[in-house]
Amino acid sequence: MIKIEKIAVVGAGSMGSGIVEVASKAGCKVFVWDPNPAQEQLFKSITKHLDKLAEKGKWDSNKSQEVLNSIQWIDRLESIPPCDLIIEAIPEKLELKVNTFQTLEAHQPETTILASNTSSLSIAGIAGGLAKPQRFLGLHFFNPAFIMPLVEVVPGIATQATLADELSELMRAWGKIPVVAKDTPGFIVNRVARPFYGEAIRMVEEGIATPEEIDHAMKSLGGFKMGPFELMDFIGHDVNFAVTESVYAAFWNDPRYKPSFAQKRLVEAGRLGRKSGQGFYTYVDGQAQNQAVTENPQRDQRIFERILVMLMNEAIDARFWNIASAKDLDLAMTKGVNYPKGLLQWADEWGAQKVYDLMLGLHQRYNEDRYRPSPLIADTLHSQTNFYNEL
Ligand SMILES: NC(=O)c1ccc[n+]([C@@H]2O[C@H](COP(=O)([O-])OP(=O)(O)OC[C@H]3O[C@@H](n4cnc5c(N)ncnc54)[C@H](O)[C@@H]3O)[C@@H](O)[C@H]2O)c1
Repeated sequence: MIKIEKIAVVGAGSMGSGIVEVASKAGCKVFVWDPNPAQEQLFKSITKHLDKLAEKGKWDSNKSQEVLNSIQWIDRLESIPPCDLIIEAIPEKLELKVNTFQTLEAHQPETTILASNTSSLSIAGIAGGLAKPQRFLGLHFFNPAFIMPLVEVVPGIATQATLADELSELMRAWGKIPVVAKDTPGFIVNRVARPFYGEAIRMVEEGIATPEEIDHAMKSLGGFKMGPFELMDFIGHDVNFAVTESVYAAFWNDPRYKPSFAQKRLVEAGRLGRKSGQGFYTYVDGQAQNQAVTENPQRDQRIFERILVMLMNEAIDARFWNIASAKDLDLAMTKGVNYPKGLLQWADEWGAQKVYDLMLGLHQRYNEDRYRPSPLIADTLHSQTNFYNEL
């Protein structure tokens, strides 16, 4: 295993502070830099999380001071001492990230591994501005990083061949669950999850069902902890819409990822979801004021099958394009967004025939490219194999 003892986190916002917490709890010396004086807030929030864990009996409070002592605030980017690994979590702007990495390259040893927590920029795009792109890769944590176990490890085309495996091993040592993803838009989770939102909104736009009915169907039949509308209201429509727009643009306007007018209007109207008191639902004292849903098993089944088959098609197509292994695709969705089951294993439970028939039905009805079935569905059907065919 590579020796990673000294690390730095650049950017101490929501993601950076969570990553500092993870690395310091794993026993690393952690240097932190942010242009804003966020030092007090950082130590406060880590102390609060450690105290909470200790209360629940999940943390030995005797170790808290040691963790806090291992974190050192640095005033200038150029003054970060030589590190084994530096993880960047600054705003999602290509030029800003490239400039920051160039400064780091100029002041760090050649051996320092540089990683970006970017959600939507390409790893090759950032690496293009670096002198040593072979030492650079994506390490995509999920929010909140100190709780969510998934980390997408994303090598770019210039990344040294062994680095993704080495960093995956490190993430395991930090108590995380790494998956390796190809450097394509949305990596795994932000790509495969799109239909959960997009297909749900489309059904409302078409007048097929209400947000309440769709949330009810996905929770009761699918076992999802939150329905699509509850989840979008929770994430915030500004954030969710921006991800959809960026994935759509990055795939050169592939209709599969087309954003919706319904969500755009919510953003324009400032109805950002739970945080603004109104999204698809209205919130009073943090409680959604949703309408009661009348029982209708057939309607629920139609809603559930349509959204789930679109999710399965997306996961199967990601497998078709070798975005990740079957195991990693399923792990990403269960550990990154808490899906009740991996989509490929779920598709195997349904069988390739049912997945194929449902996709074909949607494609024939709408005659839109959005509903094209992945070629891997027909391949799997004809070869009588499984989607999740590697263990
Ligand atoms: N928030 C999420 O859910 C999430 C999840 C995964 C990945 N990400 C990615 O992580 C990165 C950081 O996101 P975040 O949500 O933590 O953002 P944030 O706004 O909470 O934190 C960004 C930090 O960068 C600092 N900053 C501002 N201007 C800067 C500059 N010019 N140079 C350096 N630092 C600057 C800010 O002071 C702030 O502390 C982004 O690339 C984002 O795409 C975010």
